[in-house]
Amino acid sequence: MSSVSASHALVTGANRGLGLEWVRQLADSVEFLLATCRRPGAAEELNRLATSHPDTIEVLSLDVTEPSAIESAVERVQHQTGALDLLVNNGGISGGGTGDRFGTVEAETMTQVLRTNAVGPHLMTQAFADLLRAGAQADGATVVNITSQLGSISRTSGGGWHSYKASKAALNMCTRLQAAELKDDDVKVVAMHPGWVRTDMGGSNARLSTEESVSGMIEVVKNLTREDAGCFLAYDGEELPW
Ligand SMILES: NC(=O)c1ccc[n+]([C@@H]2O[C@H](COP(=O)([O-])OP(=O)(O)OC[C@H]3O[C@@H](n4cnc5c(N)ncnc54)[C@H](OP(=O)(O)O)[C@@H]3O)[C@@H](O)[C@H]2O)c1
Repeated sequence: MSSVSASHALVTGANRGLGLEWVRQLADSVEFLLATCRRPGAAEELNRLATSHPDTIEVLSLDVTEPSAIESAVERVQHQTGALDLLVNNGGISGGGTGDRFGTVEAETMTQVLRTNAVGPHLMTQAFADLLRAGAQADGATVVNITSQLGSISRTSGGGWHSYKASKAALNMCTRLQAAELKDDDVKVVAMHPGWVRTDMGGSNARLSTEESVSGMIEVVKNLTREDAGCFLAYDGEELPW
């Protein structure tokens, strides 16, 4: 299993899929892990993991579309550690998926997808900026914005997933903006495509297991340099076109 040098980490959407796997793979290598999700009461697997790592994992309710919930998470980390050195903005939604195409795009769906996949992560990084700066003082800090290759503008040729593609392109821009703001403080912000992964979102035909995807991403995080800040990378380290 991969390990990462972070001491204090936070993962959003930690109750299932890739987020749950991030928690699994970080659990034995960090001092404090705030595993956040929308409904902790229903997060059975995550709660089991937290119970088996009582000194490390804490589960907290966090919907990234709710600024007051983001503030509560900031207060929790401030109180517990006063610093954060790994923020994984993982939580996301697909919207209408393949059926979300030109001719059928609905305002409500698109707005909700943008809010969840781009606005939420941007507000998260903004709200945690001071704690990330504090975390960076020891050995740098990292923000991983989980994006998608579907957010690559230069590779897009149409099809479905309109709201999702637009939201991940927006998240990619937010990543560049966050990276520019934080790079002098040694906080490296990257946009990372996890690959096509077998989760509720990726479906059962996807190429990768969550274990393969997350261990790849952790390996990439471990090897990031200051020059990588603001890059768009895949789970295997490949640099992707914007
Ligand atoms: N799987 C793939 O092939 C693939 C490919 C490219 C990118 N991605 C990206 O990888 C990330 C994780 O996806 P996944 O495959 O693990 O999907 P998933 O199994 O559908 O899980 C999505 C997670 O996001 C959470 N979430 C949704 N809305 C949220 C909100 N408003 N606030 C906080 N959390 C929220 C969900 O929580 P609930 O359980 O409460 O709904 C769930 O924990 C997403 O950003 C996705 O776009 C996935």
